[in-house]
Amino acid sequence: MNKKWWEKSIVYQIYPKSFYDSDNDGIGDLKGIISKLDYLKDLGIDVIWLSPVYKSPMADNGYDVSDYYDIEKQFGSMEDMNALIEEGKKRNIKIIMDLVINHTSDEHAWFIESKASKDSPKRDYYIWRDPKEDGSQPNNWESIFGGSAWKYDEVSNQYYLHVFAEKQPDLNWENPKVRKDLYQMINYWLDKGIGGFRVDAITYIKKGNDFKDLKPNGKEKLVHVNGACLNQEGIEEFLAELKENTFAKYDILTVAEAPGVPKEKLSRYAGKDGFFDLLFEFEHVDLDINADGKWYKPRKWTILDFKSAIKKSQEVYNEIGFGALYLENHDQPRSLNKFIKEEDISLVSAKMLAVTYFFLKGIPFIYQGQEIGMTNVKYESIEDYDDIASIGQYKDALSEGYSKEEALAALHRRSRDNARTPMQWDNSENAGFTKGKPWLKVNPNYKDINVEANLKNENSLLNFYKNLIRLRKFSKYTDVIVYGKYIKFLEEHGDVFGYIREYNGKQILILSNFTDKNIQLKLDYNVREVIISNYENIDLNNKNIELKAYEAVVLELV
Ligand code: NOJ
Repeated sequence: MNKKWWEKSIVYQIYPKSFYDSDNDGIGDLKGIISKLDYLKDLGIDVIWLSPVYKSPMADNGYDVSDYYDIEKQFGSMEDMNALIEEGKKRNIKIIMDLVINHTSDEHAWFIESKASKDSPKRDYYIWRDPKEDGSQPNNWESIFGGSAWKYDEVSNQYYLHVFAEKQPDLNWENPKVRKDLYQMINYWLDKGIGGFRVDAITYIKKGNDFKDLKPNGKEKLVHVNGACLNQEGIEEFLAELKENTFAKYDILTVAEAPGVPKEKLSRYAGKDGFFDLLFEFEHVDLDINADGKWYKPRKWTILDFKSAIKKSQEVYNEIGFGALYLENHDQPRSLNKFIKEEDISLVSAKMLAVTYFFLKGIPFIYQGQEIGMTNVKYESIEDYDDIASIGQYKDALSEGYSKEEALAALHRRSRDNARTPMQWDNSENAGFTKGKPWLKVNPNYKDINVEANLKNENSLLNFYKNLIRLRKFSKYTDVIVYGKYIKFLEEHGDVFGYIREYNGKQILILSNFTDKNIQLKLDYNVREVIISNYENIDLNNKNIELKAYEAVVLELV
């Protein structure tokens, strides 16, 4: 089988607005990223996934593109972008860009023209529908950020569809001209020499249900748009055409944001013959989210649910070769807060989480700040939040009769701003992120949790991540970690996450204790070597092992 350049890669995600501010306007920028490339090289990463830096009014921090061929000036210029690609190359770091092609900004020239009149040549670049007879929205679809998915336009007396925010009108993928223009843009960037794309919201490009009302579950007026716009029949033709006209012509890495793809279809979507190389699945990070998507009505879940979600994907990756491994991104709260009880968040439990996902089959993604143990923030007022989704959820919660405290508590747990607080570089003012006023308040814990402190401490989380990366890329275990088969282990155990990886007769066992209690286990295997652990001494006696609180250990089996 042809090997791909990215098979042993570690990807690091940068959310540019919050990474490093080089000109002290309070907003992270491309020059700031360039100045931190040596830090990333030292960490050991190979690829940067850059959240969007295209020109944008920033209603959704760049996921609302107004010009795909230009760079947002808050972030810098096209020269800066070229310099980032070049400086990356010098360090063997490839840049993969975010590709936002389900929607544009309402300030994109296409939309401005589309909106100008019903007869505009660009009218069909977006999705316009007449009102119902009473003048109301064409149907009851609810947008992902809250409220109707339709926005009324007085000029033409029609509504346009926005699966996300009002300022993010959905492109009409049924129109071949739209697709052609998008492919041209994609190839423009690929010709520049970027390493590939993370493809945003791509499973929403096909709309279904004949644009009819969705059936409510209860008495609600609006119904989550997923029922009509997520993974709809016919989407595969679009995805195949997209690949054929763009990605297939280049030696790149593509990773698609792909919630809700049915397991039996995953091999169509990803892998050697799939539409993309890798997929971001969501089940394991959204265990607390119900189908209505309301953060303030969370679902209960257990470690068994987490294990089962991972196992399902891993078994597919055994078939297709690779998957995307992640615990955090810019849309998720910090993993420490999600997976560890607040009072138990510590260096030990952070290392345990890192081990748990780093030895799985796939390509690990690290989200900025994860490597130093950044945690959620608790802003005291809604005024402090910036995230469009958080503001939508807050409003919905109040309108459903929840108190302000309850609504805020949901944001403390789930807000996307938890991941977007400025990167904590050192213990100076504003965590060393900017000398200006940061666009989003820094997490007050930066005095203790920051890069500088992590670099100084040999035992730090950052240095632990470096070890994990070294083991993955440059050790006698590289092949089993990268290519080994995933084998389930202790599937029914409610507190221990275990799995085996196996390659050419070599086997490694990964065990993580997700509790603060000691747990005795009897292994059916002899142990050759301890590969890594988050404790200094391992309590291993023949085939008996005692896992201490939040202990994680990786063992080579005989
Ligand atoms: C997914 C992105 O990750 C998220 O940040 C964004 O708000 C939506 N897609 C819309 O582009």
